[in-house]
Parts: sequence; structure tokens; C-alpha cells
Amino acid sequence: MTHDPDDLFAPAVIADPYEYFGRLRETDPLHWNERSQLWIITRYEDLVWLVRHHELFSSAVIGSDQRPPYPPIDPEDRGLFDEVRHFRSDQLVEQDRPAHTTMRGAVHEYFTPTAMESWRPFVRQAVAELLDGVAPKGGMDVLQSLAAPLPVRIITHMMGVPNEDRELLRQLADKLLYINRGEPYRMKPLMEGIREMMAYVEPKVGRRAEHPENDFISVLAAAEKEGIFTRHQVLVNSALLLFAGHETTMNLICNGTLALLRHPDQWAKLCADPEGLTRLATEECLRFDPPVKSTQRIAAADVERHGKLIRKGDRIRWFMAAANRDPRAFAEPDRFDLSRSPNPHVSFGSGVHYCLGATLARVEGQEVFRALAERFPTMRLTTDRLEYQPSIQFRSLKSLPVSW
Ligand code: HEM
Repeated sequence: MTHDPDDLFAPAVIADPYEYFGRLRETDPLHWNERSQLWIITRYEDLVWLVRHHELFSSAVIGSDQRPPYPPIDPEDRGLFDEVRHFRSDQLVEQDRPAHTTMRGAVHEYFTPTAMESWRPFVRQAVAELLDGVAPKGGMDVLQSLAAPLPVRIITHMMGVPNEDRELLRQLADKLLYINRGEPYRMKPLMEGIREMMAYVEPKVGRRAEHPENDFISVLAAAEKEGIFTRHQVLVNSALLLFAGHETTMNLICNGTLALLRHPDQWAKLCADPEGLTRLATEECLRFDPPVKSTQRIAAADVERHGKLIRKGDRIRWFMAAANRDPRAFAEPDRFDLSRSPNPHVSFGSGVHYCLGATLARVEGQEVFRALAERFPTMRLTTDRLEYQPSIQFRSLKSLPVSW
């Protein structure tokens, strides 16, 4: 059977996106993928150009893209797909200016670097507790024991969820992960998770509007009172924390740990000075094997680039996984090097939609890599057969077994 070179879900492309998208970057930087009906952008310079022209490339991807879902879903789930679309089109990340500026302005204060940095002691404590639990066992699956539970703990705390509801939210988070999966049945667990999440948050919003606390739902409830968010937008954007901050951070922890262990000289360097090097290490992990491989836009007008015409309504996907390895932007881009500085990777996106949770994600990465290097310097992989979820958006390991 011949392999379709446009198959973005081919096992070889999922296993090693750097080879495939790196080749496109060098030979056809604005590539039309016929099979998925989308443009692929891979060069650093083009990515920066695209995000600077946000008026030409709309973020309202889910709302305005009328084409059938890809990968395909079970035909009987078309109604669920429309429900999911209705839900997602109210997310902050789906808005264009001017609505985006107003909505982002209403929550921005909550995410300032100073505000997020104040979470460090809580993150450090959570990492220590999770590692205390596995330390005597001599090994763990990094995904199950550390990378999946940590972000959920932090996010539930941000949402003001009491400890006794944490398990419920963890189960909800598992269902919400289907948003980035390729299984044809994925709409069922996803919509179930969304409905349960909305039902969980709804009564809290009313209470927080009357009696605000120091949590994210209170911020959204206040914005609703000011007329910035509708009730539906409040509910959707409460869930956004789990959508935006769970799998992303999970991948940073897994992909970063994997990169460190696959480069023993760099791991030894970190172990020799965990406190001093963990910030640089986190940036290099983010660049080298980014948690989010790509993100999507829809052309809002006809645009020419590299002698090709992108037509209004066309889908565009830009690959930070390829831009982060662009030799025009980074010296020796395929080298994993903890001393790389400056390190202007685009793993948190760029421009007006730049990740609001970037500081928090960095704090989580820094605390994890520091603690692992301090506590388990003998850590090693127990398999070299690693598998990734079949996604073109996320770089998600299915498990990462290690021992020490
Ligand atoms: C390593 C972890 C993370 C990575 C790699 C990441 C990556 C990204 C990227 C690439 C975007 C831009 C998407 C686009 O332009 O289409 C984004 C947006 C966003 N992220 Fe993150 N993210 C991470 C963690 C978090 C966390 C922990 C939170 C919150 C708790 C968060 C909240 C958001 C929000 C709210 C947006 C939308 C911003 C907007 O549209 O204005 N992210 N993130």
C-alpha cells in the first residue's frame, strides 16, 4: 500500500513530527494539504508574520468552519458535534477583536506574571506530595503519577473547587481530554464531560457573583455582572482552564522529562545544579518538543504569500513544532542544549492570543524538573518503545515509564 504524503495521522508523522514538518519547512513552507484541506505553515518568520496579521487570520475557527470534522466522527454524532461547536465558539481563544480584547482584559489581571508566580509555593508543595507517594516504589509512569494529576490539582484550586470535589473534577478532566483525540466516538465522552462541567459550575457562578472569592470563577462572575460575558460564556470559560491548562502542562512534563533522559549529558548538568538551571531547562524542553505542535486559523480575506493564494475561508495550521527547529531562527536547532539563551521559542503561541497561562505552566515545569533532578538523579527510562496520541495539535505521550 502506498503511503499518502499528506496523511498527517500516518504513524511515522505522529512518532516524529520533526522529520516530516521539518522537510516541509525546507521545501514547501506554505504547503496545501489536499487530504485535510488546509494550509500548513512551518517557518518561524511566517508564523510571526501570520500572528501579527490577526485581522487576516481569524481565530473563530470552530464557529466559522463549516467543513466536516477531521478526523471523521461517528455519523450519528453530528448533533453532538454541533453542540460541541456551540460550546467552543464562546471560548476566549476563539474570539477575534474587538470582543477578544474586552474579554481578555476582564481576566488578564488574574494571570499576570506576578499573580502566577505567587502560586509557586503551592505548586512546589503539590509536586513534593505527588513524588512522596511514588518515591518508595523505585519507579513510576510519569504521565499517571505526576504529569496528569499535577495540573488538575492546580486548576481545581484556581477554580475554588473544594478538596472533596477534586476527584469528580479529575474524572471530568479525563472526558474533556477527548477534545484533542482522533477516535470516531470522541464526541460522546466529550459532550458528557462538557455537560457535567457546566452543571457543576452553574450554581457556583451565582454564589460567587454575590460573594466573590479569590478564584477564577469569581473573576468571570464579576465580568458577567459588568455585561462583558454572557452566562454561557462564563460557563464555557470556566471550563477553559481545564481545556487549556491540563493536557498542555501534562505534555510539558512528559516531553521535557523524556528529552532530559534521552540526553544524559544535559540531565547530568541539571542534576548538578537543579535550582540554578531549572528555568533554562524548562525553556529548552518547551522549544525542543513542544506540548502543542500546531494551532489553527481561518483566512478572513484573500492573502498572498510565497507566490500562493490563500483564499478567504481557507483553513491554516501553523506548526510551532517546526518553527522552534527553524535553523533561520535557532543555531543548531536539533540540539537539546540547556544553556541555550536567548530562547525565543513559540510554544505558547505569539501575538494577541499569547498563552495567558504561560507563567503558571513555566512555574509547574520548573518545579517538576528541579524536584526530579534533586530527588531522582539516577532516573532512567524503562522502555524505548513510546507511543503518542494520534493528534495533529498535541504532542501527547500515552505513558512514560521510568525507574531510579
Ligand atoms: C505548557 C503548557 C501550555 C502550553 C504549551 C500552552 C500553549 C498555548 C498556546 C499555543 C496558545 C495560543 C493558541 C492560539 O493562538 O491559537 C494558548 C492560549 C491560551 N492558554 Fe495556554 N498553554 C499552556 C498552559 C496553559 C495554562 C496552565 C493555562 C491556564 C491555566 C492556559 C490558558 C490559556 C488561555 C486562557 C489561552 C487563550 C488566550 C487567548 O486566546 O487570548 N494555558 N496556550
